[in-house]
Amino acid sequence: MSQQLPPSRDWTDDAAVDAVLDVVADTAHEIRGALCERRAALDGENPTGDRTYAADDYADELLGARLLECDAVAAYASEERETVLEDEGTYHVAVDPLDGSSNLRSNNPMGTIVGVYDEPLPASGQDLVAAAYVLYGPNTTMLVADGDSVSEYLLAGDGERRPLDEDVTVPADPTVYSFGGRRPDWPESVESVVEAFEAERLKLRYGGALIADVTQVLTHGGVFAYPELEERPEGKLRYCFECAPIGFLVESAGGRVSDGEGPLLDRDPDELHERTPFYVGDGDLVDRIEAELA
Ligand code: F6P
Repeated sequence: MSQQLPPSRDWTDDAAVDAVLDVVADTAHEIRGALCERRAALDGENPTGDRTYAADDYADELLGARLLECDAVAAYASEERETVLEDEGTYHVAVDPLDGSSNLRSNNPMGTIVGVYDEPLPASGQDLVAAAYVLYGPNTTMLVADGDSVSEYLLAGDGERRPLDEDVTVPADPTVYSFGGRRPDWPESVESVVEAFEAERLKLRYGGALIADVTQVLTHGGVFAYPELEERPEGKLRYCFECAPIGFLVESAGGRVSDGEGPLLDRDPDELHERTPFYVGDGDLVDRIEAELA
């Protein structure tokens, strides 16, 4: 017997933000449906030097066109584009159209990340008014944060969205950790804090797509990181497109986000595609990492 789910409702109490999030939800199934035909790697790279796939370009073109049609959108910036596309509207939207697209060939999860800022990009995490992500897993789900709370929806089809959990919170008992980069390239302090986590019986869960790995943390409790590396002290992940929106969402769920030195959301990036070291999840674990790195 099928489960009777409650009807959908507004995402936030700001109609303009809801309009932006509606576009993302409505577009998600088209992106998902297009993946099987767009697995090919392209010759080019994105502005930060990542290999790109046909699906990255498709998702970027589609989301850019749809979001710029929305009256609420003043600008569209994407991890796949050098510059910001401007329009008239209220909110500046930063998007990672297909996060984790290197998982395409291995058929593992990917997602779409959205940050809704009220200042022109590049902007600080303090300028976020909402953040959301879509996870293309066995089901398509969407998590939405308004700064105070996080809701999870099932995108059941053709933009229909059904609330699954109206109060997503980082679980109190951490059980997983998920750290990117090679262990020999981590700072020694990161290595030693991970050894301590393992001694406390935290399990490694790393799948190579930020959104999927952060969802493990939101589901099972724990911490995700992509630390500074020996050859890359600035880290790998991008501030405006990935780290600030996901950090805002996890803090809205009662967790913490840090750049290893302090609150990541307080940073003010100079460049649109700027990277940052990234530690996010359970507040106590993030505090311990920060203390160890200090
Ligand atoms: O930013 C792209 C991304 O694919 C993230 O989704 C993910 O967390 C990370 O890069 C994976 O990097 P690596 O391949 O080094 O593990």
